[in-house]
Parts: sequence; structure tokens; C-alpha cells
Amino acid sequence: MNQYNDQIETKLIHRQISDGELKTGAVNVPIYLSSTFHQSSFDEFGPFDYSRSGNPTRQVLEQKIAELERGTKGFAFSSGMAAISSAFMLLSTGDHVLITEDVYGGTYRFITNILTKFGIEHTFVDMTDLNAIEQAIRPNTKVIYMETPSNPCLRITDIEAVVKLSKANNCLTFLDNTFMTPFFQNPLELGVDVVLHSATKFLSGHSDILAGLAVTKDEELGERLGYIQNSFGAILGVQDSYQLIQGIKTLGIRLKQSSDSAQLIANYLNNHPFVEEVFYPGLPFHPGRDIHQKQARGFGAVLSFRLPNREAAKAFVEHVRIPVFAVSLGAVESILSYPTTMSHAAMPKEERERRGITDGLLRLSVGLEHVDDLIRDLDQALQKARRIHTPAF
Ligand SMILES: Cc1ncc(COP(=O)(O)O)c(C=O)c1O
Repeated sequence: MNQYNDQIETKLIHRQISDGELKTGAVNVPIYLSSTFHQSSFDEFGPFDYSRSGNPTRQVLEQKIAELERGTKGFAFSSGMAAISSAFMLLSTGDHVLITEDVYGGTYRFITNILTKFGIEHTFVDMTDLNAIEQAIRPNTKVIYMETPSNPCLRITDIEAVVKLSKANNCLTFLDNTFMTPFFQNPLELGVDVVLHSATKFLSGHSDILAGLAVTKDEELGERLGYIQNSFGAILGVQDSYQLIQGIKTLGIRLKQSSDSAQLIANYLNNHPFVEEVFYPGLPFHPGRDIHQKQARGFGAVLSFRLPNREAAKAFVEHVRIPVFAVSLGAVESILSYPTTMSHAAMPKEERERRGITDGLLRLSVGLEHVDDLIRDLDQALQKARRIHTPAF
């Protein structure tokens, strides 16, 4: 693109047009449904040979996410977990990973049940506590893994401070940027080595595809991750790559609108007497809010709130009408989920509760419905749940 393409809203939509598309004038990326590519020379192969190694449609997506995250190399995978697991393949037997305590449940499952089989050790640590991180670093620690804001309690990690610690100890940093997306946060600019995404969420935005992305800035690290992507083979299919490119075009406007609504909903819930606690970085008392504001450009569209117990959460879910009650987040429709049996089902009860994921906790990913309708809906469901929970009320 030319020099006018320097704001992210523009970058989300436009890209370099290939010679082939210049000929047809196609506005959208062609879907190259081809597993293999004819080589016109016996001795010299063209830019593509086999679609696991590279495909022109997927390449547009990979270049797009690299540009948005301000990295050099992007990689598209068949799911967020495929991206995360592939990144962990950069490690070897005997290595150690330091990982944030309130990590996404699927990542928890991979670290605790799969990586251990390959002799890769791990320690969970409170990533908001720099002393605890320093204490937990071992001579064989090779990766520090962050999520900020974290899932589901929106805890904030000081990215630059963790990067500083990791560089001083010769380890890499990985960061799951699913909640913020490159629209709000660019961890590579803060020194993070590998940025990971469940692109199933805000980046695609329509609850239609599963996808994962990884981005690196360091060329050599990018080469290594590219080698793993091709060897392990958990690549994103061509049609899903096209769909994700289309989703990314509207990311900015969707995330802005949903985050504005999330702020109003968080304010509303915070003033509701039946709600015990609200977790949202846009609330003035949210721990680490100043750090978040230093490293991100928005508060995001996900919030969590605590009701007294499981029965109250159940009654609320049974009476709410607009949000879908489902696993996942980051879509045009609001999605209400119950971390205990959904995103964090893989975590043992004691571990979950120690992380604040109690039986009364609900997570709301705010969509694009009118915020007045959403608040009215939450209000009537809270009233009913309160009446069931406290019959005298
Ligand atoms: C923060 C976060 N990271 C990673 C994942 C895994 O992504 P996927 O479901 O696309 O494999 C999820 C899924 O919910 C998530 O919320």
C-alpha cells in the first residue's frame, strides 16, 4: 500500500493487490482451491509448491496479521489451540515454561497433559506479581507465557516488565492477544517474541470459523515457527482463510462499538446490588488499569461478573434472552458463558476457585446489539434470579 495507509482502520481493509488481481480487478482475495502447484521449470520451483507449505490465499492473511501486529512473519493455523500448541513446539525436552495462572482452559490442558509427556516442565505463576515471576524463573526456563487481560477475570500483566525479566534470563515471551487483538494492543512492539490469537473470536467476528494466528518479529524465530507450521501441518484451510480476511476488515468498527457497550454494561452491573463483583479494565478500580492503559488503546468487549452462587448464575442464564449461552466470545452476537463448565472445565475445581473462577462467575462477550436492549435484558434476568435466590426480596 502507499503512504496513506498508516491508520489501522485502513490497514484492516486494504492490502497489496497481486498482478493476477490487477488483471481482473477483483476486490476480494481469490480463493485458491489448489493443494498443489504446477512447476513450469524442472530446476526451479515457483513461489508455491504444496498448500501445506504455502497457499496464495492463506499468504494474504498471514501477511495481513504480520502487518497488523507490526511483526515480520504471520502464520495461520486451524484453530487458536493449533497456533498455541505449534508455538510450544519451539521447546525441547528438559525445558521449562512459566505460565500465567489464569490462562485459557485449553492452554492449561495442553501444558499440563500434553507438554509434560514430552518432558517439558511448567510452573503456573501470578503474572501480575513481578517478584513471584522472578522467583519462579529457573535456569531451564525458556518461555514466559502471558495473557492480558486474562480469561476470565481480566487480570492485567505488565508486558514490558515481564519482557525485561525474560530478556535478562534469556527466555522467550509468548502472549495470547485474543482479547485485545492488534486493534487495541501490539505486544511485539513491547518486545514480546510470539503473539498468538484465537482468530475464532474478534478477528473473524461472526462465530462461523475456527482459526488461529501467530506472529513473530525476529526473522530467525519466524523461520523456526514456519518450519514447525509446515512440519506439524495444522494449517488454516483456504476457504476459512478467505472468511477470516473478510472478518478482519470490520474488526475496528465492531470492536469499538462492542467495547463502548461493554463499558456501559460494566458500569450498570457494578451498580447492581445482586452483582457481587465486576471484572472489566474500564472500571476505575480494576486492578492494573493504569498498566493496561499504558500498553493498550481500549478496554475490550469482554467482562465477567460474580453472582452469589451456582443457583443464582443458573437462574440468570435461564432468564436472559438476547445473548446466546455458549462457549466462545468476540462475535457480533453477545455471548454469555459459564467458565466453570465451559472455558475452564479442564481445570480442577480447587485450581479454578483459587483463580477466582467460582460457581457464581459468568463471562459476557458484548456483541453489536443495541446496548439499551442488552441492559434491559440483563436487568430483567437479574431481577428474576434475585427473586429466586432471595424469595423474600
Ligand atoms: C484467550 C483464548 N486463547 C485461546 C483460545 C483457543 O482458541 P480456539 O478455540 O480457536 O482453538 C481461546 C478459546 O476460547 C481463548 O479464549
